[in-house]
Amino acid sequence: MIGNPKTPQSMDKIIINGGNRLFGSVETSGMKNAALPILFATILTKSKCVIENLPSVSDVTLSLSILKEMGASVRFLNPTTVEINTASFTQGAAPFDLVSQMRGSTYLLGAELGRFGRASVNYPGGCDFGVRPIDQHIKGFEALGATVWTENGYVKAIAENGLRANSVYFDVTSVGATVNVMLAAVLAEGMTVIENAAREPHIVDLANFFNTCGANITGAGTSVIKIRGVKVLHGCTYTIIPDMIEAGTFMVAAAMTGGRVHVTNLIPKHMETVSTKLMEMGVQIDEHDDAITVTSDGKLKSVNIKTLPYPGFPTDMHPQFGAALCFANGTGMITEGIWESRFRYTEELRKMGANITVEGKTAVYTETSQMSGARLTAVDLRGGAAVLIAALAAKGTSEITGVDVIRRGYYDIVGKLRALGADIHEEIQYFSGANIG
Ligand code: EPU
Repeated sequence: MIGNPKTPQSMDKIIINGGNRLFGSVETSGMKNAALPILFATILTKSKCVIENLPSVSDVTLSLSILKEMGASVRFLNPTTVEINTASFTQGAAPFDLVSQMRGSTYLLGAELGRFGRASVNYPGGCDFGVRPIDQHIKGFEALGATVWTENGYVKAIAENGLRANSVYFDVTSVGATVNVMLAAVLAEGMTVIENAAREPHIVDLANFFNTCGANITGAGTSVIKIRGVKVLHGCTYTIIPDMIEAGTFMVAAAMTGGRVHVTNLIPKHMETVSTKLMEMGVQIDEHDDAITVTSDGKLKSVNIKTLPYPGFPTDMHPQFGAALCFANGTGMITEGIWESRFRYTEELRKMGANITVEGKTAVYTETSQMSGARLTAVDLRGGAAVLIAALAAKGTSEITGVDVIRRGYYDIVGKLRALGADIHEEIQYFSGANIG
Protein backbone atom coordinates (compact mmCIF):
# COMPACT_ATOMS: atom_id res chain seq x y z
CA MET A 1 0.00 0.00 0.00
CA ILE A 2 1.31 3.49 -0.83
CA GLY A 3 0.86 6.24 1.70
CA ASN A 4 1.99 4.69 4.96
CA PRO A 5 5.69 3.86 4.86
CA LYS A 6 7.45 2.58 7.96
CA THR A 7 10.05 4.71 9.67
CA PRO A 8 13.59 3.93 8.50
CA GLN A 9 14.38 2.61 11.99
CA SER A 10 11.54 0.13 12.45
CA MET A 11 12.33 -3.13 14.26
CA ASP A 12 10.49 -5.24 11.67
CA LYS A 13 12.04 -8.56 10.67
CA ILE A 14 11.83 -10.96 7.76
CA ILE A 15 12.05 -14.63 8.73
CA ILE A 16 13.03 -17.19 6.11
CA ASN A 17 13.29 -20.97 6.29
CA GLY A 18 15.57 -21.64 3.36
CA GLY A 19 15.69 -24.51 0.91
CA ASN A 20 12.37 -24.23 -0.94
CA ARG A 21 12.56 -24.16 -4.71
CA LEU A 22 10.59 -21.31 -6.31
CA PHE A 23 7.85 -22.10 -8.84
CA GLY A 24 5.14 -20.06 -10.52
CA SER A 25 4.61 -16.59 -11.91
CA VAL A 26 5.53 -13.21 -10.44
CA GLU A 27 4.68 -9.75 -11.75
CA THR A 28 7.26 -6.97 -11.83
CA SER A 29 6.16 -3.55 -10.51
CA GLY A 30 6.94 -0.18 -12.07
CA MET A 31 10.54 1.00 -11.89
CA LYS A 32 11.47 3.04 -8.82
CA ASN A 33 14.38 4.78 -10.54
CA ALA A 34 12.12 5.85 -13.42
CA ALA A 35 9.25 6.87 -11.14
CA LEU A 36 11.33 9.26 -9.00
CA PRO A 37 12.53 11.55 -11.83
CA ILE A 38 9.08 11.53 -13.43
CA LEU A 39 7.34 12.46 -10.17
CA PHE A 40 9.67 15.45 -9.77
CA ALA A 41 9.34 16.25 -13.50
CA THR A 42 5.60 16.89 -12.98
CA ILE A 43 6.70 20.12 -11.23
CA LEU A 44 7.71 21.50 -14.65
CA THR A 45 4.25 20.91 -16.14
CA LYS A 46 2.46 23.23 -13.66
CA SER A 47 -0.64 21.15 -14.36
CA LYS A 48 -2.32 17.80 -13.85
CA CYS A 49 -0.53 14.53 -14.69
CA VAL A 50 -1.72 10.97 -14.19
CA ILE A 51 1.13 8.53 -13.53
CA GLU A 52 0.37 4.82 -13.96
CA ASN A 53 2.27 1.67 -12.93
CA LEU A 54 3.76 3.50 -9.96
CA PRO A 55 5.56 1.06 -7.65
CA SER A 56 4.24 1.02 -4.09
CA VAL A 57 7.64 1.51 -2.47
CA SER A 58 8.64 3.89 0.28
CA ASP A 59 10.91 6.08 -1.91
CA VAL A 60 7.86 6.80 -4.08
CA THR A 61 5.78 7.58 -0.99
CA LEU A 62 8.49 9.93 0.23
CA SER A 63 8.61 11.72 -3.13
CA LEU A 64 4.83 12.16 -3.12
CA SER A 65 4.98 13.45 0.46
CA ILE A 66 7.61 16.01 -0.59
CA LEU A 67 5.46 17.17 -3.52
CA LYS A 68 2.42 17.42 -1.27
CA GLU A 69 4.22 19.38 1.45
CA MET A 70 5.42 21.80 -1.23
CA GLY A 71 1.89 22.54 -2.41
CA ALA A 72 1.09 19.97 -5.09
CA SER A 73 -2.16 18.05 -4.89
CA VAL A 74 -1.73 14.27 -4.91
CA ARG A 75 -4.63 11.86 -5.29
CA PHE A 76 -4.57 8.10 -5.80
CA LEU A 77 -6.97 6.85 -8.48
CA ASN A 78 -6.04 3.24 -7.67
CA PRO A 79 -3.10 1.64 -5.79
CA THR A 80 -0.67 2.14 -8.69
CA THR A 81 -2.09 5.27 -10.35
CA VAL A 82 -1.68 8.76 -8.97
CA GLU A 83 -2.98 12.11 -10.16
CA ILE A 84 -0.63 14.99 -9.37
CA ASN A 85 -1.41 18.66 -9.91
CA THR A 86 1.63 20.89 -9.45
CA ALA A 87 -0.09 24.21 -10.33
CA SER A 88 0.21 25.36 -6.69
CA PHE A 89 3.70 23.93 -6.05
CA THR A 90 5.87 26.45 -4.21
CA GLN A 91 9.65 26.74 -4.40
CA GLY A 92 11.95 26.58 -1.40
CA ALA A 93 9.62 24.79 1.00
CA ALA A 94 11.31 21.39 0.76
CA PRO A 95 10.74 19.40 3.97
CA PHE A 96 14.23 18.81 5.41
CA ASP A 97 13.50 15.43 7.03
CA LEU A 98 11.91 13.88 3.97
CA VAL A 99 14.57 15.17 1.55
CA SER A 100 17.37 13.84 3.74
CA GLN A 101 15.92 10.32 3.59
CA MET A 102 16.47 9.65 -0.10
CA ARG A 103 18.79 10.27 -2.99
CA GLY A 104 16.10 10.99 -5.56
CA SER A 105 15.29 14.28 -3.84
CA THR A 106 18.30 15.86 -5.63
CA TYR A 107 15.86 16.04 -8.53
CA LEU A 108 14.14 18.89 -6.72
CA LEU A 109 17.16 21.02 -7.61
CA GLY A 110 16.75 20.65 -11.37
CA ALA A 111 12.96 20.84 -11.19
CA GLU A 112 12.88 24.01 -9.03
CA LEU A 113 15.59 25.65 -11.12
CA GLY A 114 13.75 24.80 -14.34
CA ARG A 115 10.43 26.15 -13.10
CA PHE A 116 11.38 29.10 -10.87
CA GLY A 117 14.97 29.98 -11.88
CA ARG A 118 16.07 29.30 -8.31
CA ALA A 119 16.38 26.27 -6.04
CA SER A 120 17.18 25.47 -2.42
CA VAL A 121 17.36 21.85 -1.25
CA ASN A 122 19.15 20.25 1.70
CA TYR A 123 21.69 17.51 1.00
CA PRO A 124 19.86 14.28 0.12
CA GLY A 125 20.17 10.86 1.76
CA GLY A 126 20.12 7.43 0.07
CA CYS A 127 22.15 4.22 0.28
CA ASP A 128 25.68 4.56 1.64
CA PHE A 129 28.17 3.51 -1.06
CA GLY A 130 30.93 5.87 0.06
CA VAL A 131 31.17 9.40 -1.31
CA ARG A 132 28.23 10.41 -3.52
CA PRO A 133 29.26 13.73 -5.09
CA ILE A 134 26.96 16.03 -7.08
CA ASP A 135 29.70 17.99 -8.86
CA GLN A 136 28.41 16.95 -12.30
CA HIS A 137 24.90 18.13 -11.44
CA ILE A 138 26.38 21.49 -10.43
CA LYS A 139 28.55 21.63 -13.57
CA GLY A 140 25.37 21.15 -15.63
CA PHE A 141 23.41 23.85 -13.80
CA GLU A 142 26.31 26.29 -14.14
CA ALA A 143 26.56 25.60 -17.87
CA LEU A 144 22.89 26.62 -18.10
CA GLY A 145 23.67 29.96 -16.43
CA ALA A 146 22.96 29.22 -12.75
CA THR A 147 25.14 30.19 -9.82
CA VAL A 148 25.31 27.32 -7.33
CA TRP A 149 26.58 27.39 -3.74
CA THR A 150 26.21 25.54 -0.44
CA GLU A 151 24.88 27.29 2.65
CA ASN A 152 23.99 25.77 6.02
CA GLY A 153 23.68 22.27 4.60
CA TYR A 154 21.55 23.41 1.66
CA VAL A 155 22.48 23.42 -2.01
CA LYS A 156 21.24 26.69 -3.46
CA ALA A 157 21.07 27.80 -7.06
CA ILE A 158 19.89 30.90 -8.85
CA ALA A 159 19.75 31.87 -12.50
CA GLU A 160 19.52 35.68 -12.25
CA ASN A 161 18.89 36.14 -15.95
CA GLY A 162 16.95 32.91 -16.46
CA LEU A 163 18.41 29.63 -17.66
CA ARG A 164 19.86 29.52 -21.16
CA ALA A 165 20.51 26.44 -23.25
CA ASN A 166 24.10 25.30 -23.62
CA SER A 167 26.30 22.28 -24.20
CA VAL A 168 27.11 20.19 -21.13
CA TYR A 169 29.84 17.56 -21.14
CA PHE A 170 29.83 15.21 -18.15
CA ASP A 171 33.24 14.00 -16.94
CA VAL A 172 31.49 11.01 -15.34
CA THR A 173 28.44 9.23 -16.71
CA SER A 174 25.82 10.00 -14.09
CA VAL A 175 22.14 9.04 -14.03
CA GLY A 176 21.32 11.75 -11.49
CA ALA A 177 23.21 14.54 -13.26
CA THR A 178 21.64 13.60 -16.61
CA VAL A 179 18.17 13.70 -15.05
CA ASN A 180 18.84 17.00 -13.30
CA VAL A 181 20.08 18.75 -16.45
CA MET A 182 17.07 17.43 -18.38
CA LEU A 183 14.78 18.86 -15.68
CA ALA A 184 16.52 22.23 -15.72
CA ALA A 185 16.79 22.47 -19.52
CA VAL A 186 13.36 21.34 -20.70
CA LEU A 187 11.92 24.88 -20.48
CA ALA A 188 15.19 26.79 -21.14
CA GLU A 189 15.25 28.69 -24.41
CA GLY A 190 17.46 27.21 -27.15
CA MET A 191 19.11 23.81 -27.64
CA THR A 192 20.84 22.11 -24.72
CA VAL A 193 23.13 19.26 -25.68
CA ILE A 194 24.19 16.78 -22.99
CA GLU A 195 27.29 14.80 -23.94
CA ASN A 196 28.40 11.64 -22.15
CA ALA A 197 24.83 11.34 -20.90
CA ALA A 198 23.62 8.28 -19.01
CA ARG A 199 21.81 5.83 -21.32
CA GLU A 200 19.71 3.93 -18.77
CA PRO A 201 16.11 2.95 -19.65
CA HIS A 202 14.90 5.34 -16.94
CA ILE A 203 16.53 8.25 -18.81
CA VAL A 204 14.55 7.23 -21.90
CA ASP A 205 11.42 6.99 -19.75
CA LEU A 206 11.90 10.54 -18.45
CA ALA A 207 12.39 11.84 -22.02
CA ASN A 208 9.26 9.99 -23.13
CA PHE A 209 7.28 11.47 -20.25
CA PHE A 210 8.47 15.00 -21.09
CA ASN A 211 7.79 14.55 -24.82
CA THR A 212 4.27 13.34 -24.00
CA CYS A 213 3.88 16.67 -22.13
CA GLY A 214 4.99 18.64 -25.23
CA ALA A 215 8.79 18.77 -24.74
CA ASN A 216 11.28 18.41 -27.58
CA ILE A 217 13.93 15.90 -26.47
CA THR A 218 15.85 13.60 -28.80
CA GLY A 219 18.71 11.15 -28.34
CA ALA A 220 17.70 9.74 -24.94
CA GLY A 221 19.16 6.24 -24.72
CA THR A 222 22.33 7.41 -26.50
CA SER A 223 25.22 9.34 -24.97
CA VAL A 224 24.13 12.61 -26.64
CA ILE A 225 20.77 14.05 -25.60
CA LYS A 226 19.40 17.16 -27.31
CA ILE A 227 16.79 19.25 -25.56
CA ARG A 228 15.15 22.10 -27.45
CA GLY A 229 13.52 24.21 -24.76
CA VAL A 230 9.76 24.75 -25.07
CA LYS A 231 7.78 27.62 -23.53
CA VAL A 232 5.26 25.45 -21.67
CA LEU A 233 4.52 21.82 -20.94
CA HIS A 234 1.06 20.39 -20.53
CA GLY A 235 -0.15 17.55 -18.32
CA CYS A 236 -0.45 13.99 -19.57
CA THR A 237 -1.19 10.40 -18.63
CA TYR A 238 1.98 8.31 -18.53
CA THR A 239 2.84 4.70 -17.66
CA ILE A 240 6.15 3.99 -15.88
CA ILE A 241 8.34 1.21 -17.35
CA PRO A 242 8.79 -2.08 -15.46
CA ASP A 243 11.59 -2.35 -12.89
CA MET A 244 14.46 -4.27 -14.46
CA ILE A 245 16.25 -4.56 -11.10
CA GLU A 246 13.24 -6.05 -9.33
CA ALA A 247 12.73 -8.44 -12.27
CA GLY A 248 16.43 -9.35 -12.19
CA THR A 249 16.26 -10.02 -8.46
CA PHE A 250 13.46 -12.57 -8.99
CA MET A 251 15.40 -14.15 -11.86
CA VAL A 252 18.47 -14.64 -9.67
CA ALA A 253 16.34 -15.97 -6.80
CA ALA A 254 14.82 -18.56 -9.15
CA ALA A 255 18.28 -19.54 -10.41
CA MET A 256 19.70 -19.94 -6.90
CA THR A 257 16.85 -21.98 -5.47
CA GLY A 258 16.67 -24.30 -8.48
CA GLY A 259 13.13 -23.56 -9.60
CA ARG A 260 11.09 -22.46 -12.59
CA VAL A 261 9.75 -18.92 -12.42
CA HIS A 262 7.91 -16.88 -15.03
CA VAL A 263 8.71 -13.20 -14.42
CA THR A 264 6.06 -11.04 -16.11
CA ASN A 265 5.63 -7.32 -16.95
CA LEU A 266 9.25 -6.75 -17.96
CA ILE A 267 11.08 -5.59 -21.10
CA PRO A 268 13.41 -8.48 -22.14
CA LYS A 269 15.82 -6.04 -23.87
CA HIS A 270 16.46 -4.35 -20.50
CA MET A 271 17.31 -7.75 -18.99
CA GLU A 272 19.98 -8.74 -21.56
CA THR A 273 23.06 -8.47 -19.33
CA VAL A 274 21.34 -10.27 -16.46
CA SER A 275 19.97 -13.00 -18.75
CA THR A 276 23.36 -13.50 -20.41
CA LYS A 277 25.18 -13.88 -17.07
CA LEU A 278 22.57 -16.32 -15.80
CA MET A 279 22.94 -18.39 -18.98
CA GLU A 280 26.74 -18.41 -18.46
CA MET A 281 25.99 -19.75 -14.98
CA GLY A 282 24.08 -22.67 -16.51
CA VAL A 283 20.55 -21.32 -16.10
CA GLN A 284 17.91 -21.71 -18.82
CA ILE A 285 16.36 -18.41 -19.92
CA ASP A 286 13.31 -18.33 -22.22
CA GLU A 287 12.28 -14.90 -23.46
CA HIS A 288 8.69 -13.98 -24.30
CA ASP A 289 7.23 -10.62 -25.45
CA ASP A 290 7.00 -9.09 -22.00
CA ALA A 291 8.14 -11.93 -19.73
CA ILE A 292 11.07 -14.27 -19.10
CA THR A 293 10.96 -17.82 -17.77
CA VAL A 294 13.93 -18.88 -15.66
CA THR A 295 14.55 -22.61 -15.20
CA SER A 296 17.35 -23.88 -13.00
CA ASP A 297 18.45 -27.10 -11.32
CA GLY A 298 20.22 -24.98 -8.70
CA LYS A 299 23.68 -26.07 -9.86
CA LEU A 300 25.36 -22.79 -10.77
CA LYS A 301 28.74 -22.19 -12.42
CA SER A 302 30.87 -19.26 -11.27
CA VAL A 303 31.31 -16.24 -13.55
CA ASN A 304 33.19 -12.96 -13.54
CA ILE A 305 31.26 -9.68 -13.64
CA LYS A 306 32.19 -6.03 -13.96
CA THR A 307 29.52 -3.42 -13.34
CA LEU A 308 29.33 -0.52 -15.78
CA PRO A 309 26.88 2.20 -16.82
CA TYR A 310 24.04 0.93 -19.06
CA PRO A 311 24.16 -1.03 -21.35
CA GLY A 312 26.86 -2.62 -19.17
CA PHE A 313 26.06 -4.92 -16.26
CA PRO A 314 23.99 -2.90 -13.71
CA THR A 315 25.59 -2.07 -10.39
CA ASP A 316 22.15 -2.48 -8.81
CA MET A 317 22.33 -6.23 -9.64
CA HIS A 318 25.85 -6.65 -8.20
CA PRO A 319 24.90 -7.75 -4.64
CA GLN A 320 22.26 -10.23 -5.86
CA PHE A 321 24.81 -11.89 -8.17
CA GLY A 322 27.31 -11.79 -5.31
CA ALA A 323 24.82 -13.85 -3.31
CA ALA A 324 24.38 -16.29 -6.21
CA LEU A 325 28.15 -16.73 -6.59
CA CYS A 326 28.33 -17.98 -2.99
CA PHE A 327 26.32 -21.01 -4.16
CA ALA A 328 28.21 -21.56 -7.44
CA ASN A 329 30.92 -24.08 -8.34
CA GLY A 330 34.45 -22.72 -8.62
CA THR A 331 35.61 -19.16 -8.05
CA GLY A 332 33.88 -16.04 -9.35
CA MET A 333 34.64 -12.37 -9.22
CA ILE A 334 32.72 -9.10 -9.21
CA THR A 335 34.46 -5.81 -9.94
CA GLU A 336 32.42 -2.76 -9.00
CA GLY A 337 32.78 -0.13 -11.71
CA ILE A 338 30.34 2.49 -10.45
CA TRP A 339 30.40 2.87 -6.66
CA GLU A 340 33.43 3.38 -4.46
CA SER A 341 32.19 0.93 -1.84
CA ARG A 342 29.30 -1.44 -2.39
CA PHE A 343 30.58 -4.50 -0.54
CA ARG A 344 29.02 -4.14 2.90
CA TYR A 345 26.60 -6.98 2.07
CA THR A 346 29.55 -9.41 1.84
CA GLU A 347 29.99 -9.21 5.63
CA GLU A 348 26.43 -10.44 6.01
CA LEU A 349 26.96 -13.29 3.54
CA ARG A 350 30.06 -14.34 5.50
CA LYS A 351 27.82 -14.88 8.53
CA MET A 352 26.09 -17.54 6.43
CA GLY A 353 29.37 -19.30 5.69
CA ALA A 354 30.32 -17.55 2.44
CA ASN A 355 33.95 -17.50 1.43
CA ILE A 356 34.47 -13.98 0.07
CA THR A 357 37.53 -11.76 -0.02
CA VAL A 358 37.30 -8.12 -0.99
CA GLU A 359 40.26 -6.18 -2.24
CA GLY A 360 39.75 -2.67 -3.55
CA LYS A 361 36.82 -2.73 -5.94
CA THR A 362 36.86 -6.51 -6.50
CA ALA A 363 35.27 -9.32 -4.51
CA VAL A 364 36.26 -12.95 -5.02
CA TYR A 365 33.70 -15.63 -4.16
CA THR A 366 35.09 -19.12 -3.62
CA GLU A 367 32.96 -22.25 -3.62
CA THR A 368 31.76 -23.32 -0.20
CA SER A 369 29.83 -26.49 0.56
CA GLN A 370 27.48 -25.07 3.17
CA MET A 371 25.59 -21.78 3.24
CA SER A 372 23.35 -21.75 6.30
CA GLY A 373 20.76 -19.44 7.83
CA ALA A 374 21.86 -16.71 10.22
CA ARG A 375 20.83 -13.43 11.86
CA LEU A 376 21.39 -10.89 9.10
CA THR A 377 21.05 -7.17 8.46
CA ALA A 378 19.87 -5.47 5.28
CA VAL A 379 22.71 -2.96 4.93
CA ASP A 380 21.28 -1.13 1.92
CA LEU A 381 18.54 -1.66 -0.65
CA ARG A 382 20.22 -4.12 -3.03
CA GLY A 383 22.48 -5.52 -0.31
CA GLY A 384 19.27 -6.29 1.60
CA ALA A 385 17.81 -8.05 -1.42
CA ALA A 386 21.04 -10.05 -1.73
CA VAL A 387 20.95 -11.43 1.82
CA LEU A 388 17.24 -12.14 1.44
CA ILE A 389 17.70 -14.32 -1.66
CA ALA A 390 20.77 -15.95 -0.11
CA ALA A 391 18.57 -16.91 2.85
CA LEU A 392 16.02 -18.45 0.47
CA ALA A 393 18.67 -20.74 -0.98
CA ALA A 394 20.55 -21.52 2.26
CA LYS A 395 19.73 -24.35 4.67
CA GLY A 396 18.02 -23.38 7.92
CA THR A 397 16.41 -20.27 9.32
CA SER A 398 17.48 -16.68 8.76
CA GLU A 399 16.23 -13.57 10.48
CA ILE A 400 16.77 -10.29 8.61
CA THR A 401 16.57 -6.91 10.35
CA GLY A 402 16.86 -3.41 8.89
CA VAL A 403 14.23 -4.38 6.35
CA ASP A 404 12.97 -0.82 5.78
CA VAL A 405 15.77 -0.28 3.28
CA ILE A 406 14.40 -3.19 1.22
CA ARG A 407 10.95 -1.54 1.21
CA ARG A 408 12.51 1.53 -0.41
CA GLY A 409 12.71 -0.30 -3.71
CA TYR A 410 10.75 -3.57 -3.62
CA TYR A 411 6.97 -3.69 -3.40
CA ASP A 412 5.76 -6.60 -1.25
CA ILE A 413 8.83 -8.73 -1.92
CA VAL A 414 7.82 -11.05 0.92
CA GLY A 415 4.30 -11.65 -0.47
CA LYS A 416 5.60 -12.12 -4.00
CA LEU A 417 8.22 -14.68 -2.90
CA ARG A 418 5.75 -16.51 -0.67
CA ALA A 419 3.40 -16.87 -3.65
CA LEU A 420 6.32 -18.60 -5.45
CA GLY A 421 6.62 -21.14 -2.63
CA ALA A 422 9.20 -19.53 -0.35
CA ASP A 423 8.84 -20.11 3.39
CA ILE A 424 9.05 -16.42 4.32
CA HIS A 425 7.12 -14.05 6.54
CA GLU A 426 7.40 -10.64 8.13
CA GLU A 427 7.27 -9.82 11.82
CA ILE A 428 5.86 -6.31 11.95
CA GLN A 429 6.40 -4.19 15.07
CA TYR A 430 3.34 -1.96 14.71
CA PHE A 431 4.29 0.43 17.51
CA SER A 432 7.35 1.71 15.63
CA GLY A 433 5.59 2.92 12.45
CA ALA A 434 5.27 6.66 11.84
CA ASN A 435 2.93 7.92 9.17
CA ILE A 436 4.76 10.23 6.81
CA GLY A 437 2.48 9.55 3.85
N1 EPU B 1 29.20 10.83 -9.71
C1 EPU B 1 30.13 11.85 -9.63
N2 EPU B 1 29.66 13.12 -9.66
C2 EPU B 1 28.33 13.42 -9.75
C3 EPU B 1 27.40 12.37 -9.82
C4 EPU B 1 27.88 11.07 -9.80
O1 EPU B 1 31.32 11.62 -9.56
O2 EPU B 1 27.99 14.62 -9.77
C5 EPU B 1 29.68 9.43 -9.70
C6 EPU B 1 29.17 8.63 -8.51
O3 EPU B 1 29.99 8.82 -7.37
C7 EPU B 1 29.20 7.22 -9.04
C8 EPU B 1 28.86 7.40 -10.52
O4 EPU B 1 29.12 8.77 -10.83
O5 EPU B 1 30.50 6.72 -8.93
C9 EPU B 1 27.42 7.10 -10.92
O6 EPU B 1 26.52 7.81 -10.10
P1 EPU B 1 25.06 8.23 -10.60
O7 EPU B 1 24.96 9.71 -10.51
O8 EPU B 1 24.80 7.59 -11.92
O9 EPU B 1 24.14 7.58 -9.49
P2 EPU B 1 22.81 8.17 -8.87
O10 EPU B 1 22.07 8.95 -9.88
O11 EPU B 1 23.12 8.80 -7.56
C10 EPU B 1 21.29 6.18 -9.60
C11 EPU B 1 20.38 5.21 -8.91
C12 EPU B 1 21.20 4.18 -8.14
C13 EPU B 1 22.16 3.48 -9.10
C14 EPU B 1 23.01 4.51 -9.86
C15 EPU B 1 23.89 3.90 -10.93
C16 EPU B 1 18.42 6.52 -8.48
C17 EPU B 1 17.55 7.23 -7.50
N3 EPU B 1 19.51 5.95 -8.01
O12 EPU B 1 22.03 6.84 -8.56
O13 EPU B 1 20.26 3.23 -7.68
O14 EPU B 1 23.02 2.63 -8.39
O15 EPU B 1 22.14 5.48 -10.50
O16 EPU B 1 23.12 3.20 -11.86
O17 EPU B 1 18.11 6.47 -9.66
C18 EPU B 1 19.34 1.63 -6.24
O18 EPU B 1 18.27 1.72 -6.85
O19 EPU B 1 19.60 0.71 -5.41
C19 EPU B 1 20.38 2.64 -6.47
C20 EPU B 1 21.36 2.87 -5.61
